[in-house]
Amino acid sequence: MRLKGKHIILGVTGSIAAYKAAYLLRGLVKEGAEVQVVMTPAAKEFITPVTMSALSSRPVASEFFAANDGTWHSHVDMGQWADLMLIAPITAATIGKMVAGLADNLLVTTYMSAKCPVYIAPAMDLDMFAHPSTLKNLEILQSYGNIILEPGEGELASGLHGKGRMMEPDRIIDEVVKSFDSKKKLLTKKVLVTAGPTYEKIDPVRFIGNYSSGKMGFAIAEELANQGAEVTLVTGPVSLSVNHPNIKRVNVESASEMLKASKSVFPEMDAAVMCAAVADYKPANITSQKIKRKEDEMSIELEATKDIAATLGSIKKENQLLVGFALETQDELKNAAGKLQRKNLDFIVLNSLQDKGAGFGVVTNKITILSKDNKAQEFELKQKTEVAADIVEKIVEELGNL
Ligand code: CTP
Repeated sequence: MRLKGKHIILGVTGSIAAYKAAYLLRGLVKEGAEVQVVMTPAAKEFITPVTMSALSSRPVASEFFAANDGTWHSHVDMGQWADLMLIAPITAATIGKMVAGLADNLLVTTYMSAKCPVYIAPAMDLDMFAHPSTLKNLEILQSYGNIILEPGEGELASGLHGKGRMMEPDRIIDEVVKSFDSKKKLLTKKVLVTAGPTYEKIDPVRFIGNYSSGKMGFAIAEELANQGAEVTLVTGPVSLSVNHPNIKRVNVESASEMLKASKSVFPEMDAAVMCAAVADYKPANITSQKIKRKEDEMSIELEATKDIAATLGSIKKENQLLVGFALETQDELKNAAGKLQRKNLDFIVLNSLQDKGAGFGVVTNKITILSKDNKAQEFELKQKTEVAADIVEKIVEELGNL
């Protein structure tokens, strides 16, 4: 249900394509929209209001006053209620009235009171559509911010062939859905997310790893994608799956692979969220054969891995946002502030292992966001998906300030 809870006014005018408005209405309702139908008097000659009220489960509004009891249909209230107004089909006459502000019926007055995006789907014979007055009027309506759903070419009700067929209802519904998409807050933004642990090889069968499940990073990637961002998710070995068309997943194993993958995409990113629990050290040598048990003691020589967040911080441009995480067990705020500065981050998300329900492997988390100006914002214990929404909200805000 792509339109769940959306309030839509469906205006119908007197064109033969009005019969398609019933199918259109059915489709909008099926997608979860609440639809108020407004018909012009002429539309009722083509399709009965009974059909439309039955399909929308609401009385059709058509006259300024309801015929039986004189109740006033408030075009102002309807205009305020709607998230989107769609007039389909719209005739040359209604287009002309909208241009001229000729508010002599409920549909045009509602249009003039509407505070929401207005979509119109013209339907008329080819000569009427091609007439300079229609084309000029459509241009004017477009300049007012209305969105024209271009009619198609094909056989017309008159038997003539040409441009003037109302856009097909299924396509109109897709356009309506897209319009709500454009309200997403991170459309056109590209974001890199690192997630999960890294595995640092010791020998062919052993590695140094950690308990990171990747849940927090995956939740952030999904929330970013839901807000329209194009996400590159660079993840260490986790048992999670992701299924979102906006998320490109890159699987890596070690810190150096994660660094390479992150560094190569970072220049084109608007933001990067460093959620991975990257190993700070790796074995200095990886033995090609399995290490055999020998004496009672053994040691592995370790060397530092490169800090991915700090590397990106050092090449970060002014219009790029870099977000880090800190998992601390003591002196939390002080340590987090140190990391923020050292890695040149814009803000850091602090998890304290002192907090019950926070940290690795659990579905909840409790965070504090520490900004560059040393302001700390504390959040409640929440589900990781809700925590992700808080972090993404902060990203949206900070990207707006860059
Ligand atoms: N990080 C990273 N690359 C590393 C180590 C850490 O990108 N090699 C990132 C993490 O993804 C996280 C932040 O840096 O966003 C903090 O990591 P953390 O390991 O807590 O900090 P360290 O700088 O390693 O400090 P310490 O281990 O002393 O706590």
